[in-house]
Amino acid sequence: MKLLITGFNGFVAGSVIAHAKGNWEIHGIGRSENPLNVPGIYYHNLDLLDEQGFTSLFNEIRPDAVIHAAAMANIDICQVNQEMAERVNVGVTKMIARLCSEHGVKMVFCSTDTVFDGVKGDYVETDIPYPLNYYAETKVKGEQHVLSASPKNVVARLALVMGLPVIGKGNSFLADMIGKLSKGIEIPFPANETRTPVDVITLGSSLVELAENQFGGIIHLSGNTKINRYQMGLEIATILGYPANLIVSIDSNSMVGRAPRANDASMDNSLAKKVIKTPMRTLAEGLNLTLNFKF
Ligand SMILES: NC(=O)c1ccc[n+]([C@@H]2O[C@H](COP(=O)([O-])OP(=O)(O)OC[C@H]3O[C@@H](n4cnc5c(N)ncnc54)[C@H](OP(=O)(O)O)[C@@H]3O)[C@@H](O)[C@H]2O)c1
Repeated sequence: MKLLITGFNGFVAGSVIAHAKGNWEIHGIGRSENPLNVPGIYYHNLDLLDEQGFTSLFNEIRPDAVIHAAAMANIDICQVNQEMAERVNVGVTKMIARLCSEHGVKMVFCSTDTVFDGVKGDYVETDIPYPLNYYAETKVKGEQHVLSASPKNVVARLALVMGLPVIGKGNSFLADMIGKLSKGIEIPFPANETRTPVDVITLGSSLVELAENQFGGIIHLSGNTKINRYQMGLEIATILGYPANLIVSIDSNSMVGRAPRANDASMDNSLAKKVIKTPMRTLAEGLNLTLNFKF
């Protein structure tokens, strides 16, 4: 069985690869000409905006499942580069959904908790998205393409992802945080943003399960701890043995030049607990898992 994963060099993909290895023939797509060498993985250097190139590669590989993790994932960059965000997060997703549906291939799409406006919190899969920024808007459009392409497709809404990169670097706030704390640098965390962070190890394992099982539709992949980001920073710093005063509380709504963020984007993970065998974890359990994970 062949698994195609986009965003090969990204944070989430690294954990997906670690969990799929052994059960799947893994093909990864990334833009770097010099990716990390992961033995036993087929790496394809391609910009996903190259539709012809992607179509040829897809037809050559003929995957049994696709996990689409590539995206322009920086909220503030999407806000000021809306045309590119639309092309990458919507256009590419639509192209992959179309090809998967033409060939009867299951697609798992990485969406986000920030599709919600953050007024209600504890969001369930049937709640209606109301995006506050352009990144979230592109993810909602991507979700619609994925869901309308096939009932067997999965929209996995990822909570804030916490952890150390399993392969390479990617977009890990924990790695940045440890780097700063070890140098005694203060770190601002927004107290107004409540999340249900999911650790990258639980997430990678869950996404692989979703590629393998019979579930289709929307699913929320979030942790068991509902916490604001400032408290989350404090808890992590404390567990890691760094001084709590290095974690500084801010209000992200008052930051100039920042795209709007949802206040309470916490997600209910009851469905994930029913559909996925991988257990959902608390913040402390997830931290322990990511610090000790060996690939
Ligand atoms: N991390 C989180 O907290 C979080 C939360 C919710 C949802 N998500 C979603 O989860 C997915 C994975 O996130 P992540 O944290 O792993 O992000 P990441 O580390 O930024 O990885 C995203 C990857 O997408 C690749 N990419 C972007 N544009 C591309 C293009 N045109 N062609 C080929 N590759 C392209 C990037 O390649 P380059 O390395 O070449 O730039 C990067 O490796 C994304 O869809 C994100 O929106 C993440």
